[in-house]
Amino acid sequence: MASNVASIGGRAYPITDHTFDVVIVGAGGAGLMAALQLPKDTSVAVISKVYPTRSHTGAAQGGVAAALGNQEEDHWKWHMFDTVKGGDYLVDQDAAEVLAREAIEAVYDLEHWGLPFNRTPDGKIDQRRFGGHTRNFGEGPVRRSCYAADRTGHMILQTMFQTAVKNQIRFFNEFLCTDLLVQENRAAGVVAYSIRDGEVHTFSAKAVIFATGGYGRAWRVTSNAMACTGDGMAIAYRRGVPLEDMEFYQFHPTGIYRVGVLLSEAARGEGAYLLNNTGERFMMRYTPTLNELAPRDIVSRSIVTEIREGRGILQTKRDGDDYVYLDVRHLGEAKIREKLPDITDFARNYLRVEPITEPVPIQPTAHYAMGGIPTDVEGRVVIDEHNTPLIGFYAAGEAACVSVHGANRLGTNSLVDLIVFGRRAGKHIARQLQANELDFAELPADAEDHTRAMISRLRAGTGETQDAIREDMRDVMMDLCGVMRTQAGLSQCKEKVAELQDRYSKVRIMDASTNFNTEMMEVIELGYVLDCAEATVAGALAREESRGGHFREDFPTRDDKRFLQHTLAYRADDGGVSELRYKPVVITEFQPKERKY
Ligand code: FUM
Repeated sequence: MASNVASIGGRAYPITDHTFDVVIVGAGGAGLMAALQLPKDTSVAVISKVYPTRSHTGAAQGGVAAALGNQEEDHWKWHMFDTVKGGDYLVDQDAAEVLAREAIEAVYDLEHWGLPFNRTPDGKIDQRRFGGHTRNFGEGPVRRSCYAADRTGHMILQTMFQTAVKNQIRFFNEFLCTDLLVQENRAAGVVAYSIRDGEVHTFSAKAVIFATGGYGRAWRVTSNAMACTGDGMAIAYRRGVPLEDMEFYQFHPTGIYRVGVLLSEAARGEGAYLLNNTGERFMMRYTPTLNELAPRDIVSRSIVTEIREGRGILQTKRDGDDYVYLDVRHLGEAKIREKLPDITDFARNYLRVEPITEPVPIQPTAHYAMGGIPTDVEGRVVIDEHNTPLIGFYAAGEAACVSVHGANRLGTNSLVDLIVFGRRAGKHIARQLQANELDFAELPADAEDHTRAMISRLRAGTGETQDAIREDMRDVMMDLCGVMRTQAGLSQCKEKVAELQDRYSKVRIMDASTNFNTEMMEVIELGYVLDCAEATVAGALAREESRGGHFREDFPTRDDKRFLQHTLAYRADDGGVSELRYKPVVITEFQPKERKY
């Protein structure tokens, strides 16, 4: 590790340069899983803008799917089929096969590292139902989700972090990644801003993994943590990597009304109902086979339809802004306390509602990006419709698009995605290092110039402060690029996001300090999330069909002739989406059919 000092605008900046075989950005489930695959003689740095156990993986609640068959007959191929069908056939089926097959061993890895799963009476990992997971290719719900009460993500994160600490993996906490270094057509490292003291650090590496999570903070009502601002996606996009399928953004049906905090689908897996203003279990009308356990895109749209057609519960304090109920009362106090302790506490704390005796007001909440940085099944980032890899660059977890979720992810498949593809990326790098296929590239002396220029520009901004830009973005995305979309709304949204980008280019920072300058951090994050929003809207406007999480009221049906393909959004050098390209979906076993549940 070497240190020196540079001067910009008369101000001295200590620089710290680091060299590691592998640099992983993001300390959630995908990043940690990748780190844990690397041999002991590999030097590994994990860079995280939050303390690792605060990563958003910890917010995942209901479980991790794997066809263990501990409760009833199950097969990985049924899991693969459900994933493909749930994703409205936009799923790459080679990836779905990997996910469903390898979920089983990845879950056992977690068990062996000490994850405290709930257990069956005979000591096996317990399993519960979740939306869209079925037996025998759609016959009825199956118990596939392995869980630890309603805090499965939290347990995964703690288990993996303690294992990483045991393995002496080096963590750089409270470092915000600001750039991907590309030299000689390969990834050569990253630049990061130390939140603690404002220093800029350069990390040289043979391989870089982005496991930076999603960008739910683009919407007003979201289940996502403050940290979910699409950092890795935006950094890759700014470096010429396209973003894939960004128009497919999932709204989870049961967010706490107005607050957005998740109330796990595990509640419905355990038997909870969704009720409208007449007390009717309305999902029985929409999906008679799976009822409340239909895939999330369908349940979210059904809730919005109930509300629009006047069957929501009117919140009189805010006219026209209403909700439906999640009802767990009939499950009984003992089961609620044992299986759903956290989410029932959330209802008490955020809404002052007692779920044991009262139904809980909920609304769809922005939850998960099906799209992201395009990768192959080894986690290698690919940069075009021919799947050309960018050597040394990997992505995994929500930041990546494998594409295993297609147009709509099934509940509990996000944790599987993290552990399966984080594991794959780590193992692939380990093999490449072993075969001497990856090496350091020489970094130029000005490697961190781009970051310094960005910081200087932000410090010199004379426009408005960040707050109204952020609020306006969240409102336009919620109102015009949410569960239901139209050409007119999306066109307006595109214009508004472009205006927001323009306002952002002049944004002013009030805090001139260097130590824990959270305003600086938030402004950088706002730039990232705006770029993600821009790619989302462009893809949504161009996709004139309805599929999974992308519902166009003006094109209400799926159009396989025109759109059975992935979108790749490229950024222009001076900002804005320059081009949309398309690439074919990988279909191996399951031919696209109409989705019926
Ligand atoms: O509802 C939930 O517990 C969320 C799980 C998921 O998004 O996979």
